Amino acid sequence: MELTTAMTEEEIIDHTIVFVKHELRESERGHDWWHIQRVYQNALKISASEPGDLFVVRLAALLHDIADAKFHGGDESIAPAKARDFLTSLGVRPSIIDQVATLIENISFKSNIDALPVRSPELDIVQDADRLDAIGAIGIARAFHYGGYKNREIYNPEIPPLTDLTSEKYKISTAPTLNHFYEKLLRLKDLMNTPTGKRLAVERHRFMEDFLDRFYKEWNGG
Ligand code: ADP
Ligand code: NI
Repeated sequence: MELTTAMTEEEIIDHTIVFVKHELRESERGHDWWHIQRVYQNALKISASEPGDLFVVRLAALLHDIADAKFHGGDESIAPAKARDFLTSLGVRPSIIDQVATLIENISFKSNIDALPVRSPELDIVQDADRLDAIGAIGIARAFHYGGYKNREIYNPEIPPLTDLTSEKYKISTAPTLNHFYEKLLRLKDLMNTPTGKRLAVERHRFMEDFLDRFYKEWNGG
């Protein structure tokens, strides 16, 4: 008779970390393992004062970017399917797998532009954790890194930011990186879900505003 011992939650987390590091080893560097590590830490911090199943939060924070649609021909279904297959291979309970996969399907800014997401307390936490990493000093670094990766202009005073953002326009935009601040990054503070997330976003938001003030000042020779 074969004895099967189920993995502990900590063992599952450890395996997931190894898996995610491997999957993201050649990823665009704004969405690499370090992004995941920061989001994971943000999620733990928010979870300390917000309700939600911590195991689901931890798994979803680790797995949320394993196949970003931007880098997979726009296909939004790869990441949740990959997470499902991986967690199934570890023998994780189906109810946990369903929660993690649904969360990954609903976390992205794009999928929230013109559709209502399926909400859960765990999505609120992980989405806030991911959004915190898109703003502040790290957010500025990531935005200009991404712009460089796509060879976008840093700024072009003749190309104004889009005000009526649809998911299609957002995906095909090749606008200068400064526009991304108005199209997304400066909006995130008011989109935070949890009181803790909102509180953590305030200082990072202010830092981006200061950065933009200085940017225009220097642009104009100041
Ligand atoms: P989500 O994954 O939440 O839908 P994105 O993948 O569009 O959001 O953005 C994740 C991060 O990638 C942004 O916070 C930003 O750092 C960077 N990024 C995405 N699109 C752009 C862009 N057009 N210009 C600059 N940075 C971008
Ligand atoms: Ni992310």
